[in-house]
Amino acid sequence: MPLPLSAPSAPRGLDALWPLCVDLTERRRRGATASAAGLPLAWSANGGYALDGEWDAESRALFALFKPLLDRQGDDARWVVGQLGQSLDGCIATHNGDSFFVNGPEGLVHVHRLRALCDAVIVGAGTACLDNPQLTTRRVAGPNPTRVVIDPNLRVPAGARVFTDGQAPTLLVCDPEHARRAAARVGADRVIAVTRSPALQGQIPLGEVVAALHGRGLDLLFVEGGGVTVSQFVRQGCLDRLHLLVAPVMIGAGHPGLQVRRADAMREALRPPARTFALGTDLLWDLDLRASPA
Ligand SMILES: NC(=O)c1ccc[n+]([C@@H]2O[C@H](COP(=O)([O-])OP(=O)(O)OC[C@H]3O[C@@H](n4cnc5c(N)ncnc54)[C@H](OP(=O)(O)O)[C@@H]3O)[C@@H](O)[C@H]2O)c1
Repeated sequence: MPLPLSAPSAPRGLDALWPLCVDLTERRRRGATASAAGLPLAWSANGGYALDGEWDAESRALFALFKPLLDRQGDDARWVVGQLGQSLDGCIATHNGDSFFVNGPEGLVHVHRLRALCDAVIVGAGTACLDNPQLTTRRVAGPNPTRVVIDPNLRVPAGARVFTDGQAPTLLVCDPEHARRAAARVGADRVIAVTRSPALQGQIPLGEVVAALHGRGLDLLFVEGGGVTVSQFVRQGCLDRLHLLVAPVMIGAGHPGLQVRRADAMREALRPPARTFALGTDLLWDLDLRASPA
C-alpha cells in the first residue's frame, strides 16, 4: 500500500497547552493588549480566547477550565478565584488540622496551576500556622505569585516559611494595632492594615483587602484557603469564582469547608451556575458566584 505523502500531524497536548496558558498570563501582567497573534488561538472581545487547530481532549478540557481566568485581560483583569479541596462529607482537613492530602496528585497540580495563573495567593492565619506552606508553583512551570497572609492578630510565627524563604514577596494583612510589629517582620511597605468592621461581626472587610491588592497591581487574586477565609470571601461577596475539588474520601468531624449564610428554604439557597471537571479521581466544581442570583 502506498505511504501517504505527509502524515497527519498529531493533535497538540498538555506540553503545548500549559506554556500557552503561562504565556497569556505573562502578557496580561505586562499589560499587553489581548491578542492571539502568533499563537495557536483565536481572540474576540465578546468570546475571549478559543483554541485554534487540533488539540487532544485533555488539553481542551484544561483550556475550558482555565478560560474564565485567561479571558481576564486589560481593564477586565481584576478578579478573585478561590478553591477548597474537600472530602465527600465537606471537610478540608482532619479535626487536628491534617490536610496532607485531601485531594489526589491531579488536585494538587491544579492548585499550583492556579498559583501560577494568578498574581497573588491568599491564605488565612489558620492555614499559615498549621501547614507552614510555601505557596509556590513547584509542581508546575510558571512564576510564583505574591503571597498574602490574613493574620489580624499576628499569630503566625515570624519564622514561618512565607516570611523567611525569600521565594516570593509576602504581604501581611493585619489589624492596625499590630501594624508596627508587622512592619518589623515584613517591611512597612508590605503591611496592609485594615480595621475590623462591626457590621461584619468584627471581621476584616475583604473588599478593602482586595482593593489594596489591586492598588499594588495584583489583579488576579487566588484565595487558597482555608475554610474560614474562603467562606468569609463568599459571605462578603468578594469571590467571583470558586473551585471546589471534591475527593472520594470521608473524614468525619474535621475542619469544615465552605460555610455560607444559612438558607431557611431551598428557594433561598445559593445555586450558582456550575461546571464539573474530572481531575484524576477528584471532581472539580467550577462555581460562577457572580452569576448567582443571591
Ligand atoms: N483542603 C484545602 O483545600 C485546604 C486549603 C487550605 C488550608 N487547608 C487546611 O485548613 C485548615 C485551616 O483552615 P481554617 O478554616 O481553620 O483557617 P484559615 O481560613 O486558614 O484561617 C482563618 C483565620 O484567618 C484570619 N482571617 C481570615 N479572614 C479573615 C477576615 N475576613 N477577618 C478577620 N480574620 C480573618 C482569622 O485569624 P484569627 O483567628 O487570628 O482571627 C481566621 O480565624 C488547616 O488544617 C489547613 O491544613 C485545607
